[in-house]
Amino acid sequence: MIQTGRPEDFLSKKLFAFCLFSIGFTIFLLFGSPAPPSPDELNSTSVSDQHRPAIYKGRQAISTFLATKSNAKAGQDDNEDSYFVSARTLVYQLLHSPTTKLQHPIPVVVLVAKDVGESKRQTLRSDGAIVVEVEDVTHSTPIAAERWTSMATKLHVFDPTVVPYEKVLFMDVDMVLTRPIDKIFQELSTELGPITNATQVDAELGPLPEQYILAASPESHQKDHAYPFLDSDHTVSTFNSGLFMYSPSIEMYQYYMRLLDHPDLYYTGIPDQDLLNYAHRWGGPMSWKRLNWSWYINFPNENDLQGGMALLHARWWEQGASVSSESVEQFAFARRWEMEGYWMGQKAKTSS
Ligand SMILES: *[C@@H]1O[C@H](CO)[C@@H](O)[C@H](O)[C@H]1NC(C)=O
Ligand SMILES: *[C@@H]1O[C@H](CO)[C@@H](O)[C@H](O)[C@H]1NC(C)=O
Repeated sequence: MIQTGRPEDFLSKKLFAFCLFSIGFTIFLLFGSPAPPSPDELNSTSVSDQHRPAIYKGRQAISTFLATKSNAKAGQDDNEDSYFVSARTLVYQLLHSPTTKLQHPIPVVVLVAKDVGESKRQTLRSDGAIVVEVEDVTHSTPIAAERWTSMATKLHVFDPTVVPYEKVLFMDVDMVLTRPIDKIFQELSTELGPITNATQVDAELGPLPEQYILAASPESHQKDHAYPFLDSDHTVSTFNSGLFMYSPSIEMYQYYMRLLDHPDLYYTGIPDQDLLNYAHRWGGPMSWKRLNWSWYINFPNENDLQGGMALLHARWWEQGASVSSESVEQFAFARRWEMEGYWMGQKAKTSS
């Protein structure tokens, strides 16, 4: 007969097993899941694609870029900077909002240009973002437009020493979420793929990375459209550069830096969008792939809002501007005040 033991024995065995499990689970939490990189890792010096530390592998993040508008007056209240308020709203929606926050949180990295004030950086940090200052990029482009310098500086998001993750979703600050966006990282179009079809010109401007990711959504071109905006015959060959999935790479970053000096190849008046669309043109060596139509649109309208479009991209604070519809503006404004209310509530909690 098998000795079954007394009930007390059984209980203590169960307790023992539970303790073992708890210890094991704690170890898993400590070492099993990737921790966000330390500031030292973030500040590490040059990293090449081939020698990309294993630490970046499989890591995901969201990146965005904040510059200060040239007309920002000294002594201005931080909240009068619409781009800053929009960045805060985005961080809140990604990390804290009960209806839109990431189900599996990943780092949200905000790159800031040198002239973004310390108080804004502090606020973004206490909101939960990783804030990294980037140097202004100097370039020898004959185009003197200030937007050009800002665009060149924004390209730091591709620099793996600044954004040390393997798969990153870049988002312009001026967009709002209607639902969580975790699953965008699982889209087939966001998998690393090989380089193809490099031409002589590409080779001269190279070297290119061995693999790349560039998944985005077609430029919608107009405010009046149905939901979904399908472009089913794939006639729209340019993507909107407000949102794209990519893989930071030193080769890619340096390739873009070289492209900066050749606007003759691509410039039509929209600096970063033109450059990225040239680098990732269809038939080229690193052609862009389409994200599912339900993730993102520029020039969003009421149809997108009603239909369940996840990301609505518009300078929503410019009321009455032709960039979006009234219902999208109202929706975005409500998210902004939801963000303010959330932080007020947190403050009240900690001070009581
Ligand atoms: C490579 O170039 C060929 C010929 O121009 C074209 O048919 C093909 O689609 C290109 N491949 C990619 C992946 O763009
Ligand atoms: C795109 O997303 C929609 C909505 O989530 C879904 O119904 C559809 O199946 C997706 N399409 C593809 C090709 O995955």
